[in-house]
Amino acid sequence: MMIIVFLCLYLAINNYYTVDGRITSISQNQEDLDLETQLKLINKPPLKSIQVDGYIVDCIDINKQPAFDNPLLKNHKIQLKPSFEVTSMKSTGLLSIGIEEDFCPEGTIPIRRTTKDDLIRAKQLSHTNADILNKDIPGRHYAGLNLYKLNLSVDGSRYAGIRGVIAVYNLQVQNPDQITSAYIYLQNGKSVNDKNVIMTGWEVHPSVFGDGQTYFFTRWADKSQNKGCTNLICPGFIQTDKSIPLGTPVGNASTYDGEQYDMSVQISHDPETKNWWVILQNKTLGYYPEILFSNLAFANVGGWTGMTSTPRGIPSPPMGSGHFPANNLKRACYIIQMGFHLDTGEDLVPIKYEYAGPSIDSDCYEVDYEGYNDEVQQYAMLFGGPGGNCGE
Ligand SMILES: *[C@@H]1O[C@H](CO)[C@@H](O)[C@H](O)[C@H]1NC(C)=O
Ligand SMILES: *[C@@H]1O[C@H](CO)[C@@H](O)[C@H](O)[C@H]1NC(C)=O
Ligand SMILES: *[C@@H]1O[C@H](CO)[C@@H](O)[C@H](O)[C@H]1NC(C)=O
Repeated sequence: MMIIVFLCLYLAINNYYTVDGRITSISQNQEDLDLETQLKLINKPPLKSIQVDGYIVDCIDINKQPAFDNPLLKNHKIQLKPSFEVTSMKSTGLLSIGIEEDFCPEGTIPIRRTTKDDLIRAKQLSHTNADILNKDIPGRHYAGLNLYKLNLSVDGSRYAGIRGVIAVYNLQVQNPDQITSAYIYLQNGKSVNDKNVIMTGWEVHPSVFGDGQTYFFTRWADKSQNKGCTNLICPGFIQTDKSIPLGTPVGNASTYDGEQYDMSVQISHDPETKNWWVILQNKTLGYYPEILFSNLAFANVGGWTGMTSTPRGIPSPPMGSGHFPANNLKRACYIIQMGFHLDTGEDLVPIKYEYAGPSIDSDCYEVDYEGYNDEVQQYAMLFGGPGGNCGE
């Protein structure tokens, strides 16, 4: 038994080195470095710390954050604010994510401290990092609205931003490797093997987050380099926000026919610095420098979607609220205030069928793009369903 555990860990660790820059910065032939030593390299010395239910948040010097362990970012000069105006979106305002704005001293950012368990989980996961781009892996299903039909050959412009307000649910999964999530994304690449993507939203995925709660997440992946990860599992995302530590649960979630908790999210390409900003609840959380990607100078695909994933032989988990859309924003998961823009700066709302279309790949879930609902919801969609045996 012990031997099997060690063998698995060994294989997982080896795999990890190939996809994760942070651990690669530890020499490859030191892979027997004990976990404590690795943790010391990952967890930077805090200027201040706070214990939040079950985990510790450290205030880390903004210029010493984990992203700078990535060799590509050695000479990166941090950008503290986007060069564009952030679009304010109206959420229900019920969701409270993060710690007090002024807890971390000036020049520091809050980071959830990595534990031994986190490290072991991350190592076991590593081979799936760029797998997020394999739409066709068995057991993975989507229901969403995708942007893809823009006639790029005509106007030369590309997708450079996407936004929406997503209702947050906490559905149960039966297996730690199952996923149920809702997010927005922008992606570039023509073939399966050169896809580059940034996505942000919420997710239940115990084998990544450690338990069955709902987590806000941001993720990047670059299929051709086989790089990428969720939150700070690998070095890449540069945080600038002082109050939202990545990898902390969202807290309360919406209930069927009850209170609705939602979150506003946005991904935007900075026209001056070309950094890809991630915005949550009107706050600029931070960004992915374009240099991380082999092919993300712009996006040619994007969208708003629900996603579930399940290992072979296990029925798919529920998506959204677990109910099919039935024209009711209190019963099905919604994304409202949907919008996107081009790299010319042009905001392309209304979202027309000329450049967007619904996408569903099984009978287990549905999507209902509603178009313009009213002044608050604006462009809206409902999606989700109960899951079950959804086919491959
Ligand atoms: C895109 O624009 C070109 C040039 O005007 C045109 O020939 C082509 O049919 C258009 N494609 C679509 C899908 O509209
Ligand atoms: C979360 O829900 C509990 C129980 O419904 C409630 O007491 C609490 O105030 C809620 N918290 C927030 C931040 O809304
Ligand atoms: C975002 O900005 C809008 C417009 O100012 C405001 O109504 C909304 O409450 C803000 N959302 C959050 C989470 O602060």
